Amino acid sequence: MRQNFDHQYYQASADYILSQIDFKPEVGLILGSTLGGTADSIENPVTLDYRDIPNFLQSTVKSHAGKLILGQLAGKNVACLSGRFHYYEGYDFEELAAPVRVLKLMGVETLILTNAAGAVNEGYKPGDVMLIKDHIKLTGASPLRGANIEEFGKRFFDVSDMYTEALRDLAKGCAGCLGMSLREGDYFFYTGPNFETPAEIRAVRILGGDAVGMSTVTEALTAAHCGMKTLALSLITNMAAGVLKRPVSPEEINATGAEAAERLGKLIAEVIGRL
Ligand code: HPA
Repeated sequence: MRQNFDHQYYQASADYILSQIDFKPEVGLILGSTLGGTADSIENPVTLDYRDIPNFLQSTVKSHAGKLILGQLAGKNVACLSGRFHYYEGYDFEELAAPVRVLKLMGVETLILTNAAGAVNEGYKPGDVMLIKDHIKLTGASPLRGANIEEFGKRFFDVSDMYTEALRDLAKGCAGCLGMSLREGDYFFYTGPNFETPAEIRAVRILGGDAVGMSTVTEALTAAHCGMKTLALSLITNMAAGVLKRPVSPEEINATGAEAAERLGKLIAEVIGRL
């Protein structure tokens, strides 16, 4: 049995963070690799290193900054994790509940997640932005495994509106105003760190996945457990394995991410402004 974290464990992180600022964040942002640019738009930023936050996780991925940035974006108080944590880094699913639980204890009620993802849906193309409507995670693990912490939520909980419909509607409206097109589809979680095999991608397509990626689901599940609303956006950085007759390339993923980060940032700011 793994360590069971308790409420106090997360409270220590939240108390430290709140002691460094004089406002309460209402929106939490967790940004995907190469999509961290949104953090630069935060006004009056107070930046904390993950390593200074008691009981917090440490980033191990180069393209993830490992900083918590607190300040204002589009007129709202936000807390932005620039640098997220993934299962492939070696964390257990249970450990991956920490960032969202700490945000919750800081007062955050709305969570916005971004990620880079490969297109399984052959109608998509690199550069597209996909609103996550729902996810498929066949990996038999959960961030909510272990003793339930009643202060956060119930042992058994509903996830049929995990990617909050009202927020998706808001995002569609914002995209319309910005003249941006938006896809909407189902995200298939894959553990990584290798990209999928072409056979796996064919299976994902049969199962109904539109995009595939290695993040986001632990955060969305943790948020659903503690009653937070979630909006999640995938930037399609590449066609998934086997769709094109060439390998999936991390360089291509990073280049597409960098090119689209600003566009995605504008959409996020518009959504936050209208919350
Ligand atoms: N597979 C998994 N994760 C990803 C991909 C992919 O093709 N592209 C970006 N993240």
